[in-house]
Parts: sequence; C-alpha cells; structure tokens
Amino acid sequence: MGKGFTVWLTGLPGAGKTTTARGLEHALKTKGLRVEVLDGDEIRKALSPEAGFSREDRERHIRRVAHVSKLLARNGVAVIVSLVSPYRSVREHARREIRNFVEVWVKCPLETCIQRDPKGLYKKALAGELENMTGIQDPYEEPLNPEVVVDTEAEPPEACVEKILNKLRELDYC
Ligand SMILES: Nc1ncnc2c1ncn2[C@@H]1O[C@H](COP(=O)(O)OP(=O)(O)OP(=O)(O)O)[C@@H](O)[C@H]1O
Ligand SMILES: [Mg+2]
Repeated sequence: MGKGFTVWLTGLPGAGKTTTARGLEHALKTKGLRVEVLDGDEIRKALSPEAGFSREDRERHIRRVAHVSKLLARNGVAVIVSLVSPYRSVREHARREIRNFVEVWVKCPLETCIQRDPKGLYKKALAGELENMTGIQDPYEEPLNPEVVVDTEAEPPEACVEKILNKLRELDYC
C-alpha cells in the first residue's frame, strides 16, 4: 500500500488549482500511485448540493471534503484536493484531521485572476450580479505556513507541478 497523503491546493478562483491538480494527478499516476482528485465544483455537487456560499456553508463543505480526504489518505491513496478553501481556520482543521497533509498555496494576484476569469464569475461579481465571491466581497485568507507556494503568474503549469513533486519526494511520499 502506498503511503497515503493529501495535497491540498488552495487559492483564489482562477488561480490555477484545477490545472495544477490535473498535472499533478497525471505525474503521480505515471509513477504508479493510486490517485483521487477532489476538485471544486464537482465535489461540491456531490457532497454539498444544498450549500450556498455563506461562510457557514463553505466551512461545512470544506470539512466534508477534509473528511473524505482523510478516509482515502489513510488507505494509501494520494489525494489531491483543489478547492478555493479561503479560510485559514478550516484549512488548519483539515491539517489536524489528515495525516501527511501538504498545503500548497496556488498563488496568483487578484488582478490576474480577474483578467483570466475562466468562469465569468468575477465579471458577474463586479457587476453586482453575484454575492459572496472570494476576492471581491469575501476574503481570501492567505496561507501563513504552506509546505509549497506555486506562483502561476510566473511559472508555467509544468513547473508548478514539478515544485510540488519535489516537496513530495523530500517528504518521501513519492
Ligand atoms: N501555471 C499557470 N500559468 C499560466 N496560466 C495558468 C496556470 N495555471 C492555470 N492557468 C490558467 O488560469 C486559468 C484558471 O485556471 P484553473 O481553472 O486551473 O483555476 P482554478 O483555481 O481551478 O479556478 P476555480 O477556483 O474557479 O476552479 C485557466 O485559464 C488556466 O489555463
Ligand atoms: Mg478549478
């Protein structure tokens, strides 16, 4: 059985979490690890279809994702979570719950995320058509002590993935 660990990608909407997660998934599968990706929209539909974007709803959802991640990781799965997860306290909860927790800050300036706006959500939020958008009305609490920081404005996806792989090797997880 593999060691089991969780790479927790946190960052602003549009920062590059899903892109990084899929690249990392590919790299780890190539190494023969069993990998599960728990990604933003998809996992929300599955675990918290009733949830909105209030702080309470988001926190409850993030805790559910942390729980699933814990179950998988303790059974040897390499888990990749890619979730905005904007609140420091809930990420710290996940860190306490999950053994072999690797927090990755997918860092990108807000202005660049707004320019990218792949889902058109910033546009809506800035036009007042969407409430509780992280980065606009809602806070994003930057990680204070993440294991890895990847800067998607400066580094292409492959370099971001490689940086995370280096940390995983250093920790003897892959
Ligand atoms: N390292 C990178 N360098 C340049 N562009 C990137 C990088 N990573 C992602 N991008 C681009 O940024 C945009 C947003 O990426 P992605 O969908 O992965 O973000 P996300 O953090 O998952 O967003 P969301 O929170 O809305 O799901 C995409 O257009 C993607 O191609
Ligand atoms: Mg995404």
